[in-house]
Amino acid sequence: MDTTYNLNGGFKPTTKRFADLNGPDFFPTPAWATEALVDNERFSGDLWECACGNGAMSEVLERDTPNTYSSDLYDRGYGEAGVDFLEADRKFDNIVTNPPYNAAEGFVRSGLDLANRKFALLLRLAFLEGANRQRTIFSTNPPSRVWVFSERITFYPAGAEVKGSGTTAYAWFVWDKDAPSRTELNWFKPGYKATGRAAKQQKLL
Ligand SMILES: C[S@@+](CC[C@H](N)C(=O)[O-])C[C@H]1O[C@@H](n2cnc3c(N)ncnc32)[C@H](O)[C@@H]1O
Repeated sequence: MDTTYNLNGGFKPTTKRFADLNGPDFFPTPAWATEALVDNERFSGDLWECACGNGAMSEVLERDTPNTYSSDLYDRGYGEAGVDFLEADRKFDNIVTNPPYNAAEGFVRSGLDLANRKFALLLRLAFLEGANRQRTIFSTNPPSRVWVFSERITFYPAGAEVKGSGTTAYAWFVWDKDAPSRTELNWFKPGYKATGRAAKQQKLL
């Protein structure tokens, strides 16, 4: 638990994803956060969840894209173990994941090389900041779309008790080889957290 400053001047107990900065950083993504992506982005062809953990994200992706391959550097009981995405050379039409916090930039570099069509990463919204990322990623390869969550995602270690609410803002960053090389900013409608796919948006990109 942590106390965080509120805009109205009060303090509110919240739960943070305590990033595992040096380790494998295993935090399964709640299903609704992946459902928000697949309700708004179409993935044609095959798909690779390249840091699949225990399959929390893969299981949602497989509903619409049965041709989904899952792997992880570590054996977490799902997909193929021992596949380092940072050293990989397999190409897929689409690559989607929530990468480890400490290797997000490396995942962007590999994904841009290895995805033929779309590459989507669930990242902190603050990933948009930073002089180094501006130079190495955004000046040359800006994402095609950024989907900002209007509701907070709370990440829990696998098996932990689900309680509290997150304090970090997240977004889906989508690189689409068929889209113009400028960034469109979108917001997910509120409602996914409570109802998942019931809160469909209007257009599928
Ligand atoms: C934040 S967890 C997300 C798990 C899953 N993608 C999800 O959203 O539920 C990050 C995952 O990346 C895996 N990982 C860390 N370094 C990796 C690498 N170099 N290549 C592939 N997977 C890696 C970890 O083992 C962990 O399962």
